[in-house]
Amino acid sequence: MHTTVPAGLTRKQAELFAKLDPERLPQHIALIMDGNGRWARRRHLPRIAGHRQGVAAVRDVIKLASRIQLKAITLYAFSVENWKRPKTETSFLMALLRTYLKKEVPLMNEHNVRLRYIGRIHELPPAVQERMAWAEEQTAKNTGMIMTLALNYGGRAELIDAFQRIVQTAANNGGLAGLKIDEALVSRHMY
Ligand code: FPP
Repeated sequence: MHTTVPAGLTRKQAELFAKLDPERLPQHIALIMDGNGRWARRRHLPRIAGHRQGVAAVRDVIKLASRIQLKAITLYAFSVENWKRPKTETSFLMALLRTYLKKEVPLMNEHNVRLRYIGRIHELPPAVQERMAWAEEQTAKNTGMIMTLALNYGGRAELIDAFQRIVQTAANNGGLAGLKIDEALVSRHMY
């Protein structure tokens, strides 16, 4: 049981927090952003309204997670498969992401959150990549929670990229003959 409850929690959050066992609190929580479309459909709103609501939910998650001193949070925000959605929706999401990064940096700094990314970042629109680099740099000195955004991410894509880098490095260093693939090597080459 927690004896000291962090400042800034609502009464309900504080009550729940007090019941948690600090020894068993996870260090890293990953969230899949899902259900935005369903949230909007239930309210007879367009899907993009659901995505906006998803952004608001992320804001609450950041505040709470940093207040309870969680070490790391990963948000699966846009997968490689998401490009199959209508162009209007993917363009909206890219624009939303740019706005999000610009608007939320002050909140991240206020909560000492450092921003990082995983995924095939180089394939994202250049304007999005620029804003991402800016936001990462703006939060680089923060020492609290690490927030990783998975963008243009796929589990299989990550494995493919890891194996390609492993083979490339081996080829540059005398060839593939002596290459031994083990867990540590694969792990070192993951995003
Ligand atoms: C899934 O909901 C959500 C997405 C595919 C996009 C989420 C990304 C953003 C809102 C961009 C902003 C990014 C951040 C990091 C805040 P869905 O459309 O699959 O919903 P459904 O499952 O109900 O159809």
